[in-house]
Amino acid sequence: MIMAKTPPPSKSSKAKASVKAKVTAADLSSSDIGGESPEKASALPADAAILPTYAEAQGSGGETHQVAGGDIAPLTTQHGIPVADDQNILKQGTRGPALLEDAHFREKMFHFDHERIPERVVHARGYGAHGYFELTESLADVTRADVFQRIGERTPAFVRFSTVAGSKGSPDLARDVRGFAVKLYTQEGNWDLVGNNIPVFFIQDAMKFPDLIHAAKPEPDRDFPQAQTAHDNFWDFISLTPESMHMIMWIMSDRTIPRSLRTIEGFGVHSFRFVDSEGKSIFVKFHWKPKQGLQSVVWNEAVKINGADPDFHRRDLWDAINAGDFPEWELGVQLFDDAFADSFDFDILDATKLIPEELVPVRIVGRLVLDRVVDNFFAETEQVAFMTQNVPPGIDFSNDPLLQGRNFSYLDTQIKRLGSTNFTHLPINAPKCPMAHFQQDGHMAMRNPKGRVNYEPNSWGPTQGGPREDPVRGFTSFAETVDGPKQRVRSESFADHYSQARQFFISQAPSEQKHIGDALVFELSKVERPDIRSRTVSHLIHVDAALAETVADGLGIGLPEAAVAARAPIDDLPPSNSLSIVKNGPDSFKGRKLGILLSDGADAAIFKALLEAVDDEGAVYEVIAPKIAGVTLSDGKTVAAKHKIDGGPSVLFDAVAILVSAEGAASLALDAAARDFVTDAFAHCKYIGIGKDAEAIFVKAGIAEDLDEACPPIAKPSDAKAFIQACRALRHWPREAAVDLDAQPES
Ligand code: HEM
Repeated sequence: MIMAKTPPPSKSSKAKASVKAKVTAADLSSSDIGGESPEKASALPADAAILPTYAEAQGSGGETHQVAGGDIAPLTTQHGIPVADDQNILKQGTRGPALLEDAHFREKMFHFDHERIPERVVHARGYGAHGYFELTESLADVTRADVFQRIGERTPAFVRFSTVAGSKGSPDLARDVRGFAVKLYTQEGNWDLVGNNIPVFFIQDAMKFPDLIHAAKPEPDRDFPQAQTAHDNFWDFISLTPESMHMIMWIMSDRTIPRSLRTIEGFGVHSFRFVDSEGKSIFVKFHWKPKQGLQSVVWNEAVKINGADPDFHRRDLWDAINAGDFPEWELGVQLFDDAFADSFDFDILDATKLIPEELVPVRIVGRLVLDRVVDNFFAETEQVAFMTQNVPPGIDFSNDPLLQGRNFSYLDTQIKRLGSTNFTHLPINAPKCPMAHFQQDGHMAMRNPKGRVNYEPNSWGPTQGGPREDPVRGFTSFAETVDGPKQRVRSESFADHYSQARQFFISQAPSEQKHIGDALVFELSKVERPDIRSRTVSHLIHVDAALAETVADGLGIGLPEAAVAARAPIDDLPPSNSLSIVKNGPDSFKGRKLGILLSDGADAAIFKALLEAVDDEGAVYEVIAPKIAGVTLSDGKTVAAKHKIDGGPSVLFDAVAILVSAEGAASLALDAAARDFVTDAFAHCKYIGIGKDAEAIFVKAGIAEDLDEACPPIAKPSDAKAFIQACRALRHWPREAAVDLDAQPES
């Protein structure tokens, strides 16, 4: 909203004169104002006024008044009444008490007081973006779902990524599952595929969801820890819930500390059904595979990112989309029939199990592209209401008892959270296809039917009688035959708790296995009760004996007896490469970010060559410097910084380059933030490009002797390209044994 009214008389004629000295956006457009890849710098509005001196009209108390006029609209109340003064409450006298008569103040404060709605009971911290789904292969042979019929057709989409346990304001790099909720506005209604970045879940039956979430969230008496599973209640519940062991392997892996929301997979988790036009059905599992490749950070890095930039993931997504680097995922389906389900080692209705891609290949049928950020976070990301029960004709549920419970929960929670049954009237939730029904009224009803008829059947005829059932196009459930007594019971086919946990563990690269062990030791070391630590390890023995020993050793406890297994694990399931992050990384540095630490006098030719190499790769860069105003390079040109050194630690970047003069290096070597910049980059196994005069920093940081082949010199401009190409490997994992981030001395 912009301002209104006749300005109060300015006290200062000097102020008016200084308006002439405004610097406009146009004056700055020829320089690199952000010290970052130019397309990522926020564009200044063409009419933005940058005042070198303070020159707004002032009221009698010196308060700023910006006024309407010309193209600037008058500020009004919600009822459209123009506002003359938005700075001062109505008073008696100049210093006297406020008057109740001030309707503008009361309305403004009333609305502010009611700005918050309840945060989601889970997945409160999230970030959304718009895009589209494009079908690349028809599935007309197996489903009548309209969205899967016509190759090349685009369906509007909204995606919200989230963490699970933390509050709305919690940091992005919490160790947690990432929600991956997709709303496709299909021509036969909204389809919500409300998935996660992990293909399995903690529990098998919806009855346990409130307990799981209570245990994971802050403990109820003290209300901490925030956004962490590293506490007694969580591990107590887990150690008494062995069905969670497969999920535990996933959440202790680097999957829960992704580098970017752009580098995670998405999974529908449950077995769903496709139903064709003849009512025949086949099972389906849904997969989103990132074109950007999988990538995660390391735990020590995640902890530091949370301090340096708690908005790391949302900023990354916002920047990438605004830069035109649209993240993309392929939609894959695993299709299988009853014969496969009957022969599979596990129950396909058990959400703690996955179907290895080696057994049922993932068939790629489309792509999801996110190409537009939200206009308003609250209206779109916060008010979007996903519901698993939103499936269009041609898609149906399986009897997975977790999915069945979810189908109740999501509608229930939306009414509580959004406050009215009319949450479907909000633009982000409204279907984009024709819709007609007789549901009416309620709080904030915005789409109200016209005419006399609000019921059916009725005798008002085809023009006035309103909509009617459509037995042909309408949603019909798969006519599954179900038999059996009514009972509360868990199927014996759900009783294998360890086999796939083991399969996941042995499918990991050595560095990934180490991270799982480190994470378990870290989390269990935050648990206060020794019996909970020990009981957890008793389950790990069934997963992998060496892992259990590593964790017991890391905790400083003896190996407990193995837990009693409900069913003996299968110990010869083969490894599956698709379960590893490292084995599914990208083949380029595209979309990744280089941090360039510059000082005055840095070699201009090398800097230029580096920027060209970054650009050629489709990567981006940001400049870090001792002062935010930037540096003067060897050719006398200035480069502004994106970050002052202590605001731009190396954890924010995928790789770093240190381009400094000898004097710059000597001075930075004395600065703890600069030393941390290089020691962290080194400890996190990143690629470090070392400019010709940078050595003093590494010497003072104590790592000059340890530098390896992933720390190449950039001594001349021609070295830049090779350095960026080397960065494609993302991390130099062979270094890890030397830096040993788990803080456990090697025995
Ligand atoms: C019985 C088990 C579950 C129950 C009762 C449940 C319940 C809920 C509830 C109440 C919300 C908050 C929704 C809102 O306020 O908008 C939510 C959000 C969410 N749930 Fe579940 N959930 C369950 C299991 C799962 C599973 C297995 C997955 C993944 C496959 C999942 C993925 C999500 C996601 C991604 C969101 C966030 C949606 C958004 O971005 O708005 N949930 N869940």
